[in-house]
Amino acid sequence: MSSASGSKHKIVVTRNLGPDVMPILQDRDDVDLVLWPEDRACDRDWLLQNATGAIALVIMVSDKVNAELLNAAGPSLRAVSTMSVGYEHVDVKELAKRGVALGYTPDVLTEAVADICIMLALIAGRNVKETSTLVTEGKWPNFSWSPFLFCGSQLSAPNPSVNRTAGFIGFGRIAKATLSRLVPFGFTHCVYAANPNSTKPPSSSAAADSSLAQQFGLRSVEKVDLGLVAERSDVVFVLAPGGPETYHVVDEAFLRKMKKTAVLVNAARGTLVDSDALAKVLREGGIWAAGLDVVEGEPKVSADHPLVKEPRCFILPHIGSATNETRVDMASLAARNALAAALGQPLPCALPL
Ligand code: DGY
Repeated sequence: MSSASGSKHKIVVTRNLGPDVMPILQDRDDVDLVLWPEDRACDRDWLLQNATGAIALVIMVSDKVNAELLNAAGPSLRAVSTMSVGYEHVDVKELAKRGVALGYTPDVLTEAVADICIMLALIAGRNVKETSTLVTEGKWPNFSWSPFLFCGSQLSAPNPSVNRTAGFIGFGRIAKATLSRLVPFGFTHCVYAANPNSTKPPSSSAAADSSLAQQFGLRSVEKVDLGLVAERSDVVFVLAPGGPETYHVVDEAFLRKMKKTAVLVNAARGTLVDSDALAKVLREGGIWAAGLDVVEGEPKVSADHPLVKEPRCFILPHIGSATNETRVDMASLAARNALAAALGQPLPCALPL
């Protein structure tokens, strides 16, 4: 099928989506596929030039979608399809104003990101950065073993009489998948702030969610304000969307309220955590450790960044969803969202605008 004018549907894709997924677009004779040819983030100028006349754009988190790009694409554009669950790089108001749909890729990455949340909590809590560096540098202490050397903060409850509380900033799909993984570790309680910047105290009906507690097999699941998430949690997982509303929700005041044995995990967006405050509080022993998949200002995070220098701050380069299985699913959904838009069909996964 070709477009109403008889010409092909132009779909611009800003990264090669790999051999499992590219055929979804490549193998169609009604699609004019325009693919950024290099294995690096797409050049802005290339995108602006090539977007003209496109019916759909398949973009990555590194591509900014704003009025400039939408103007360059012109009135033919029906959808922007981002290969991500996050959409801070997209001006959704501009899309809504122009009636352009936004395809995105939630759900398919939930399990991979929940896995990495647990991994970061374990790695940070158990001093993996400091201790594995000793081994790779050939500095394994020659006395080999010592009663309290390299001891960390234990994720699991050491015995059934000990309570463990998981705290969440943002309580969506990934948070819930992370919580379900914590249950076998002996976690007993959960506190969460669903709308981190809300200044209103939670209403009493929302404050204690017994059906969620039952669902997870926990003693309690409570929606609380941010301060209580900090105070009560043994691990705080930051899993809320980025953007101005959540900028620096984890600031020095939040960190100072956390337990000294607690671990902070951020697998959402770097902007939610004040990096300087975190480095300072870690240095002063205000919290035990941090495991970060995202950092403010990434990918410009050099070796002399204050967080990189902290022995108990373990940092990954934004790989939360980076498993082969998940990335194929994300790429496939992104391609199918774009194709559906081109064919005038409902998108398999559109953000309501
Ligand atoms: C997302 O999907 O938003 C992730 O951060 C990219 O893996």
